[in-house]
Amino acid sequence: MLRLSLIRRHLSDCFRPGDLVLLEDKGQKRMTTLVQSSAARERLEIGVHLSSNDFVSFSTIVGLEPGSFARSKRGKLIFLQRPSLEEYVLHMARGPTPMYPKDAAACLTMMDVGNGHRVLECGTGSGALTLFLSRLVGPAGCVFSFEEREDHLARAMKNVDRWIDLQNRLHSGSWKRNVTFYSHSPSESNRSHMDRLDSAVLDLQEPSFVLRTIIPWLKVGSPVVVYLPNITQVVQMWNTVLKEGLAVRKMRTVEVMHRLWSVDVARRHNREVVSSDLDSQPAYIARPSHHQQPHTGFLLLMRTSNKAHAKTE
Ligand SMILES: C[S@@+](CC[C@H](N)C(=O)[O-])C[C@H]1O[C@@H](n2cnc3c(N)ncnc32)[C@H](O)[C@@H]1O
Repeated sequence: MLRLSLIRRHLSDCFRPGDLVLLEDKGQKRMTTLVQSSAARERLEIGVHLSSNDFVSFSTIVGLEPGSFARSKRGKLIFLQRPSLEEYVLHMARGPTPMYPKDAAACLTMMDVGNGHRVLECGTGSGALTLFLSRLVGPAGCVFSFEEREDHLARAMKNVDRWIDLQNRLHSGSWKRNVTFYSHSPSESNRSHMDRLDSAVLDLQEPSFVLRTIIPWLKVGSPVVVYLPNITQVVQMWNTVLKEGLAVRKMRTVEVMHRLWSVDVARRHNREVVSSDLDSQPAYIARPSHHQQPHTGFLLLMRTSNKAHAKTE
């Protein structure tokens, strides 16, 4: 009996039609769904293309455990895994650029998002940050997400639904749909049900107008994070806060830097591994990678206050 349940558990961990899989070939990643509808059954035999003349068939992947290797038609070994949320948002369909995961991580920390919180997001965009927020606030929390462009909102809702559906298939429906979407700006919203929010994030080109609107919707002392790509916009933003005496206190402005490193076994020109003189273990070349992430944006943290921002602060 125990053996049977172990086998069942093992089988449910394996890739099934309908699952999302991330294939990695020498650092290059591709995300795809193992299609399952009868119309697409033919594709199940075709699989995912690695190049014009190589592919991995979906039927090779179905039944394997995440963390396994599959062999492509031309004999390459391809690493298979389930995408993390970070990988999902980097590979999902996008319109506007999603907030990059390094910035999203810092943003969530600055917002101090926790279980059961009610948070506001303006600029749903592609829905990347929405998913991180939804996961953190959990079933008792709520995300109010505003997007004024219907095409962006439709795409974002699909991205959010797809991820939640997949997680619920894998973990027996534990991810509650806790995001309420609005197809307009907060300034056009009826605020009656939006009182006493725990935090807010604004990721849009001109946040000052929205900031003015949402300050009274938040508990006094709540964090508000604004994400802006250019330092000139940052200066303009703080200027608006001062000039209009908005009821927030300026906390800090942050740029998140990630430095990628290459840590690789040293090889000669003929690909032979170089051994270290001391213990005959492979020698390593460890140095900052040639491919660094470019600048993404600045995060401005403020807290709502019971008095207007003083010009001297
Ligand atoms: C850079 S994207 C946001 C990306 C998003 N944070 C993500 O992680 O996918 C900015 C979005 O804000 C939307 N937007 C701009 N002004 C707005 C407003 N006043 N109210 C609601 N949405 C707005 C734009 O249409 C765009 O989709």
